[in-house]
Amino acid sequence: IQRSFSSSVVRNVVIKNVTIIGGGQMGAGIAQVAASTGHSVTLVDMTDDILKKAMKGIQSSLRRVVKKKFSDDPESGDDFIQKVMQNVSTNTNPAAAVTSSDLVVEAIVENMKIKQDLFGFLDKMAPEHTIFASNTSSLPISDMASATSRPDRCGGLHFFNPVPMMKLVEVVATSSTRGRFRSLNPCLVCPGHTWVHQRCVSVCHGSKEDIDIGMKLGAGYPMGPFELSDYVGLDTIKFITDGWREKEPDNPLFAPSDLLNKLVSEGKLGKKSLQGFYKYS
Ligand code: CAA
Ligand code: NAD
Repeated sequence: IQRSFSSSVVRNVVIKNVTIIGGGQMGAGIAQVAASTGHSVTLVDMTDDILKKAMKGIQSSLRRVVKKKFSDDPESGDDFIQKVMQNVSTNTNPAAAVTSSDLVVEAIVENMKIKQDLFGFLDKMAPEHTIFASNTSSLPISDMASATSRPDRCGGLHFFNPVPMMKLVEVVATSSTRGRFRSLNPCLVCPGHTWVHQRCVSVCHGSKEDIDIGMKLGAGYPMGPFELSDYVGLDTIKFITDGWREKEPDNPLFAPSDLLNKLVSEGKLGKKSLQGFYKYS
């Protein structure tokens, strides 16, 4: 999918200029893969400090990539990093960043109102041909599309974390984009999201270590559910499950987790804040 994303033509729109809104863990990763596949990328966030941190993260992830990809030829690896970094510019002004954009990928906080406000605003600033995509984990794309005058050019591009390593991208269509998004040759066009929350957070017995080890050894997961929740971000996990609970208040799968709520209220958001279920240094 990442390859098709790189060279795709959507109704004769060649995707060359890509704007990523949100330079957190997902936005930085998406910027990295888009830049690595030759796109001209503008990464947008609220402050220069956040963008600096994102660029640093992209650079260190690229170093890990080239260590493997160019293990026999470190000089070519350095050239590759330089080329990719040259493909990424940053901007704190979303209006300016979308003026020549072919594709906008939104990767900001998992909150419908904030995403709708952003989509509505960008709709007035971006050229008519620009496609809007959201990386949302759980929110309906059609609700975001309804904030724009281009619902037929809105869709979901749901990348997985860590973006540079994960080979799957879910292409989420709405009723008005299903035909169009098929031209990306998606391996998946799904009406909703397939990601399943790690319910062990509130329903399992046993220590978190036991559960994580059990799922790794017994089910072949690369990370246990607590480890993965920390990796995703406990604030994001909470946004997702709170949103689902609003839609299905009686579904026991979406019942609130006291432990998750406590950790988030204490600012223990997982790996990104160096403490979540586990501590990180
Ligand atoms: N950038 C570049 N390379 C990376 C990387 C990154 N961010 N992370 C890992 N790697 C590569 C490196 O080559 C690394 O080798 P070095 O340490 O020498 O640099 C190699 O992967 C191995 O990494 P690790 O030793 O750190 O550990 P690992 O073998 O466990 O692999 C992992 C890391 C790929 C992240 C693996 O643990 C994994 O697949 N975990 C599960 C991730 C997952 O399920 N993601 C989905 C989350 S849910 C989601 O995203 C949807 C949502 O909406 C919330
Ligand atoms: P994050 O907290 O790491 O990053 C979000 C970034 O967006 C922050 O840097 C923040 O400053 C910025 N931001 C917030 N509002 C903004 C605005 N109005 N304009 C510009 N920038 C703004 O979050 P993340 O983990 O990267 O998640 C981003 C999105 O991707 C969410 O919708 C989430 O559900 C989804 N997602 C997350 C994961 C994951 O594993 N974390 C995986 C797939 C999808």
